[in-house]
Amino acid sequence: MNNITLAPVQTDQSSHLMPVFGRQPISFVRGQGSYLYTEDGTEYFDALTGIAVCGLGHSHPAVTEAIADQAATLIHTSNIFEVPWQTAAAQKLAEVAGMEEIFFSNSGAEANEGAIKIARKFGYMQGIAQPKIIVADHSFHGRTLATLSATGNKKVQEGFAPLVEGFIRVPFGDIDAITEAAINHPDIVAILVEPIQGEGGVNTAPQGFSYLEEIRHICNQHNWLMMLDEVQTGNGRTGQYFAYQHTSIVPDVLTTAKGLGNGFPIGAVMTQGRGVGVLTAGNHGSTYSGSPLGSRVVYTVIDTIQKENLVDNASQMGAYIVEQFRTQLADQNVIVRGFGLMIGIELPKACGDLVNVARDDYHLIINVTAGSVIRLLPVLNINKEQADQLITRIVKMVKNFLA
Ligand SMILES: Cc1ncc(COP(=O)(O)O)c(C=O)c1O
Repeated sequence: MNNITLAPVQTDQSSHLMPVFGRQPISFVRGQGSYLYTEDGTEYFDALTGIAVCGLGHSHPAVTEAIADQAATLIHTSNIFEVPWQTAAAQKLAEVAGMEEIFFSNSGAEANEGAIKIARKFGYMQGIAQPKIIVADHSFHGRTLATLSATGNKKVQEGFAPLVEGFIRVPFGDIDAITEAAINHPDIVAILVEPIQGEGGVNTAPQGFSYLEEIRHICNQHNWLMMLDEVQTGNGRTGQYFAYQHTSIVPDVLTTAKGLGNGFPIGAVMTQGRGVGVLTAGNHGSTYSGSPLGSRVVYTVIDTIQKENLVDNASQMGAYIVEQFRTQLADQNVIVRGFGLMIGIELPKACGDLVNVARDDYHLIINVTAGSVIRLLPVLNINKEQADQLITRIVKMVKNFLA
């Protein structure tokens, strides 16, 4: 293989990149499992995994092999042909997701675009001309026009009016607000929520997962689609393959991305129940949808999660990490929330700067969301030794910060 040496990293001023990202002053040239390495070989513990993307860790040999072999065989044809890897990946994903139909997208936002289109078409099929979708405060569904309109965060929407119409916003967890919306808006066709709000601070609704069961009940009563955004919570992250599997209900529409491709950009919108058969020939598409390369990656990721029992590992190691945080930070006025390996530590004050402190002083990559919540999304195959490294560094850092 050719070794290509890149020119030194450009500063924001001299680079041609649109300055849409607030970037940290560091870049990594290599990753292995839970660790990232800079050019000079300095090691960092990656407790963010590209924001819940590299669940199998960096450079997992099964994924590397699948990508290398498929890239040398066939990367792309077109959906005007049969794509056997796409069929195989869909079968595997349908099994673990409890879904029937699957459309592969290229990102989480696009998966949610698919869900929004399904809801609108579902309404159209019933003669509803202006179908509406209920969405929640503090939600995050993506950066395309429709998904930023669905997102419950004004900062994401600012500057992009007119927003896409047809969303009714309710407080997350507020069932009465949904019931009231049903009375005031006869043209509602669906509800779209995240089971756990990731960007919103690693939160379930106040009543926990029973919120999802209450939503399912209301959707059944009104013949609405229950749509769950599991872009972040899916693919084993929360200690179930999909977070809805912590409950007894099944949504009609389910979206995912992130961990689905372990870094390869791919997502999916899936249907079962009354979501099936809504989109038909000519209704939807994408040039790259389910390419041989992307589909083989999805197949391999699911196969690896299954063979290595990573959903159970996420559940067990997540429980251990959360218990240790609760014990070791018991006197620190913090709230620890954990669902498998989706972990949030809410501090009593704003702590955005901890991202820099963690990186520079502890060689630890973390994220702070909702202003005061340390968000940890480590690899699903984390072992006890690595978990202890993570716990030790976080506990020390939080204690120092709050001292
Ligand atoms: C819950 C949720 N939905 C949608 C998205 C958007 O996914 P993408 O960035 O792949 O478009 C994200 C990304 O953070 C997310 O967390």
